[in-house]
Amino acid sequence: MSYAEIHQRSLSEPEAFWAEQAAHLHWDQPWKKVLDDSAAPSYRWFAGGRLNTCYNALDRHVEGGRGEQLALIYDSPVTGSIARYTYRELRDRVALFAGALLRQGVQQGDRVILYMPMVPEAAIAMLACARIGAVHSVVFGGFAAPELAKRIDDAAPVLIVSASCGIEPGRVVEYKPLLDQALQLAAHKVACCIVLQRPQCEAALRQGRDLDWHQAQHGVEPAACVPLPATDPLYVLYTSGTTGKPKGVVRDNGGHAVAMWYSMQAVFDAQPGDVFWAASDVGWVVGHSYIVYAPLLRGCTTVLYEGKPVGTPDAGAFWRVIAEHGVKTFFTAPTAFRAIKKEDPRGELIGRYDLSRFEALYLAGERCDPDTILWARDKLRVPVVDHWWQTELGWPAAANCRGIESLPLKPGSATVPVPGYDIRVLDADGTPVAADTIGNIVIRLPLPPGTLSTLWHNEDGYREHYLGRYPGWYLTGDAGTIDGDGYLWIMSRIDDIINVAGHRLSTGAMEEALSGHPDVAECAVIGVADAMKGQVPLGLVVLKSGVRRASEEIVRELVARVREQIGAVAAFKQAVIVQRLPKTRSGKVLRATMRAIADSQVHTVPATIDDPKILDEIGVALRGLGYAGGKADGA
Ligand code: COA
Ligand code: AMP
Repeated sequence: MSYAEIHQRSLSEPEAFWAEQAAHLHWDQPWKKVLDDSAAPSYRWFAGGRLNTCYNALDRHVEGGRGEQLALIYDSPVTGSIARYTYRELRDRVALFAGALLRQGVQQGDRVILYMPMVPEAAIAMLACARIGAVHSVVFGGFAAPELAKRIDDAAPVLIVSASCGIEPGRVVEYKPLLDQALQLAAHKVACCIVLQRPQCEAALRQGRDLDWHQAQHGVEPAACVPLPATDPLYVLYTSGTTGKPKGVVRDNGGHAVAMWYSMQAVFDAQPGDVFWAASDVGWVVGHSYIVYAPLLRGCTTVLYEGKPVGTPDAGAFWRVIAEHGVKTFFTAPTAFRAIKKEDPRGELIGRYDLSRFEALYLAGERCDPDTILWARDKLRVPVVDHWWQTELGWPAAANCRGIESLPLKPGSATVPVPGYDIRVLDADGTPVAADTIGNIVIRLPLPPGTLSTLWHNEDGYREHYLGRYPGWYLTGDAGTIDGDGYLWIMSRIDDIINVAGHRLSTGAMEEALSGHPDVAECAVIGVADAMKGQVPLGLVVLKSGVRRASEEIVRELVARVREQIGAVAAFKQAVIVQRLPKTRSGKVLRATMRAIADSQVHTVPATIDDPKILDEIGVALRGLGYAGGKADGA
């Protein structure tokens, strides 16, 4: 069947369509209803069914004859090590660690936070939670203690799994002091932490609370898989919202497993036994879906890479991994390619490696500029697929579904809606716009399996934020167009979320950090264009009257403050002191206008602006930082 036929069928007969995909997994108890719409607009997939995600990801393959096939390859240029785990070995390690969790009293439905670097133990801990029905919540290692504390308070975990350190090129990041600080900041108290000691740095363990990773498993019985309701949560993953409070995206067990399995086949064209590599981090949704769950559910070999695209040791790192492990399908963020292109513009390092088994490159996480796509296609000579999705959705919503039918590439477009997704563009009133007209990108309810079922302990927030704007539709928060051929073009966010090197960050959270500085009266953080990272944050700060300190000193403190409160990953390196912020007469800060000025885009001066002269002052301040002052429309 063609892509168009399959997509159409997924929308016209969703229950039959998804029941067919679900049949590829092992169910301990069949579902009673494929789609439960009794609480619409919140929907549940495979209601009444029971399964275990870990069983489907590991045990099923061992029992089905894949026990000796590699399940996971850990490749770590930052420690100079490579380790390989067969499906049998990985299952045994996971079962043992699951036993350790049980011994510490972790029960079905309890939350377990993982604050881990890119080591196999991170995947083992995730799968161990899934095995016993505990709900994991992985916190990205680049977040600082206050961000970890926010997540501890929201998820209220019974146990935290961490490691002594992460390794960034040129420095060892000690995780344990950050964990200790977060536990002190959090109101919720955690009785037990299991800590993996890495040879690069030994963490001090607190007697009575902290346990060594290996000791925790000593003499433990391996745990069996618990059949869980398909609608029970598998994990909570926090993502940036418009405010400083992160949103806990909840993923269920059943719909998630089905969507993961399906996407590997339809979107990525990955077959059991193939080597699949997503160069991301387990702290992000890409890591959850395409380092851990999807490749294993599909019976592939997954690569867990602890390194960077450049500098570990050079811009040939990706090609080395692809060649050494026989990667067929590779997924990364466009930023990584921009970093490689900068260091090796002619792609000379590519020629040093045997990439004969490499078949396709997938890019997502941020807008991919056409130059980068064409460079990658030209140098690697494989299809390059720009695909679009977000933490909330959990798997691609728009892509060139190579497992179904390869459509012609249009650089800059994420191609077409994936089966299961009915994507439209609406204007402010909710009317569908004409082809090529920009508007809000929405998805018709019900969303397909694998997408968020709610926000953790915040169903009202889920409904208000995502479902409230246009009844019957899920609001993606992205703006864009659909062209006459049905191709989707993602242009920008409609909110204050920015995307820095493929990392989704909240400017609101950074503003909260800046506002806490004693000299700051008010501030705004905007995302300005950056040739390598796509966007980087920039702070505009108004000081309290009477502050006479040197601007450079205050800016230095502000930069340090964001790093301490949010983390290095925010990449907040620049701020400028201004006299006033441009606002509407009702007091709303004109962030989009300032962003346009910084990016030298032609912009319209809003009719509601309080005092247009302030924009000139902002232009001068931004020019001082090397950003060109944009032209106002009609000026
Ligand atoms: N633990 C601790 N610190 C971390 C971290 C982690 N897991 N990940 C990143 N950081 C730190 C970095 O060391 C850096 O700190 P610095 O300011 O002291 O240099 C900061 O956070 C920003 O990191 P990063 O975004 O990685 O930028 P970079 O300048 O070090 O590297 C790239 C640039 C392009 C190489 C890098 O951004 C990259 O590999 N991008 C790919 C994006 C990606 O995988 N996205 C995932 C979504 S698909
Ligand atoms: P995250 O939740 O971190 O995965 O970030 C999701 C956001 O990243 C989306 O809402 C988009 O704004 C952006 N994004 C992801 N993939 C793409 C893409 N292929 N093209 C354009 N923007 C993208």
